Amino acid sequence: MNSVFSPFVKSLFVALLAVSATASADDKKPAQPAAPKIDPAKGATLYTDGDAARGLPACVSCHGAGGNSTITVNPKLAGQHEGYIYKQLVNFTTADRNQPVMTTYAKMLTDEEKHNVAAWLVTQSAKPGAAKNKDTIELGKKIYRGGIAEKNVPACASCHGASGAGIPVQYPRLSGQHQDYTVAQLGLFKAGTRKSVEMATIAKRMSDEEMKAVADYVAGLK
Ligand code: HEC
Ligand code: HEC
Repeated sequence: MNSVFSPFVKSLFVALLAVSATASADDKKPAQPAAPKIDPAKGATLYTDGDAARGLPACVSCHGAGGNSTITVNPKLAGQHEGYIYKQLVNFTTADRNQPVMTTYAKMLTDEEKHNVAAWLVTQSAKPGAAKNKDTIELGKKIYRGGIAEKNVPACASCHGASGAGIPVQYPRLSGQHQDYTVAQLGLFKAGTRKSVEMATIAKRMSDEEMKAVADYVAGLK
């Protein structure tokens, strides 16, 4: 038997050697294909035009020109940290942040599109907001800067920064954000609908009045 197959086996062996030689040569080169390059220009187009073919609405229709939403329940996105925007778009696709509107859209976006739109939004400058309620501004400021000692609520500034600029990637920018949106998020953290260990602990210790006061102060932060 050996004598019959040996030329074949021999050539097979040679072929295998050739294959393994090629493979080991390949191993020396970087094997994985280059990751798609993040393209803010593509993000800008997606933001302004959406994609009618997929039924994806333009982000601008809700989040405003340049990410400066004028509708108070829709967050301003301008200048928000790139990694944070990306993370939220991913969170919307999971149980961490199930929200009827954004969960639908976030699931339609590819990973590359999430990166692109985040990379564009961070380049946009946020329009400042303003505090509206003179009666609660002192309470809001006290909570933001010093927390609520008797309830063990830490100062918001310790994570979100003295001016509300946040600390990339983990701690989002809050300054200038709409009061209504901030109050709503604190409520969602308290209810556990939006998940974050840090923010759940904090929001659960706060009353509605305290949330409103700090949200109003945050809107006026620059
Ligand atoms: C129909 C209105 C609407 C459209 C269109 C829309 N959004 Fe939103 N978006 C919202 C609302 C409302 C929220 C707040 C969700 C919540 O309460 O958690 C939100 C939240 C977000 C957040 C979270 C921001 C934060 O600070 O945590 C991101 C990021 C976002 N949207 C990106 C986009 C992008 C990108 C598009 C376009 C592909 C888009 N949105 C289209 C209404 C919209
Ligand atoms: C220990 C650090 C820490 C402190 C203190 C803290 N936060 Fe946060 N906050 C976070 C983190 C982390 C997130 C992001 C959660 C996520 O990834 O969804 C966040 C998110 C938020 C958001 C959501 C922003 C958005 O655009 O979606 C709001 C609003 C907020 N915090 C308000 C506050 C307020 C008001 C205080 C003070 C009462 C406060 N935070 C104190 C860590 C903190």
